[in-house]
Amino acid sequence: MREDGRVQIDVVTLFPQWFEWFTGQRHVANAVASGHDLRFLDLREHTPLSGGQVDDTPFGGGAGMVLRVDVMDAALRGFYGSDPVELRRERRVIALTPGGRMLDEGLVTELAAEPALTLLCGRYEGFDERIVQHFCSDAVSIGRYVLAGGELAAMVLADAVLRKLPGSLGHADSAEEESFSAALGGDPEYPHYTRPADYRGWTVPEVLLSGHHEEIRRWRRARSRERGAASGGASLS
Ligand SMILES: C[S@@+](CC[C@H](N)C(=O)[O-])C[C@H]1O[C@@H](n2cnc3c(N)ncnc32)[C@H](O)[C@@H]1O
Repeated sequence: MREDGRVQIDVVTLFPQWFEWFTGQRHVANAVASGHDLRFLDLREHTPLSGGQVDDTPFGGGAGMVLRVDVMDAALRGFYGSDPVELRRERRVIALTPGGRMLDEGLVTELAAEPALTLLCGRYEGFDERIVQHFCSDAVSIGRYVLAGGELAAMVLADAVLRKLPGSLGHADSAEEESFSAALGGDPEYPHYTRPADYRGWTVPEVLLSGHHEEIRRWRRARSRERGAASGGASLS
């Protein structure tokens, strides 16, 4: 976060239009309205190659096309006005890639504390490795599967980061006590129920109707721990 508490997230993509839906979502729109900055930068805008070319065939052969390092260099220079090798010292520059560090609550919290992030979306076979080695501070994966492009991964990461920032969620949607938070000792959240209290004979746990706040708190904590143990996650407390 910057001193004024605001965060800038830039997404470098071949498909900026994918993010029109994303920016229309309530918590994302709230975050922008409260001063956080979201930008979608077209990788093709500064390409030095003719015809808007951004990729090329892989050395060593094989299927698919690889995003070129000179094109990413020109794009980042065009957007930021400096050498991308220096840029990663000023802000986290993140390559979204299936083999990267797995995105989890710890990494999201870490990234939400940064003043500025740049997310690079790959396509086709992915990035020329020199992009990751020389321009990026991080390589991040959203799971052990392969998407067609980095845009959905960028949305997942930006969504998780934005909802941690002041101004994104309404009070009712507070992110303080939810799955994997410190308030729950890193465990998944406990189960929720609402009206009707009895539906087709499926009743709500008695304790939740009791009005005993301490018992409810203990019951929720116990269910949360059980879920943590069942999913193989370690409880922090
Ligand atoms: C088709 S994928 C490239 C897959 C690459 N050839 C491989 O086998 O690892 C194209 C782009 O989608 C994005 N992508 C796909 N799956 C992802 C994941 N699980 N996490 C983050 N980004 C992903 C990356 O930006 C990647 O460069």
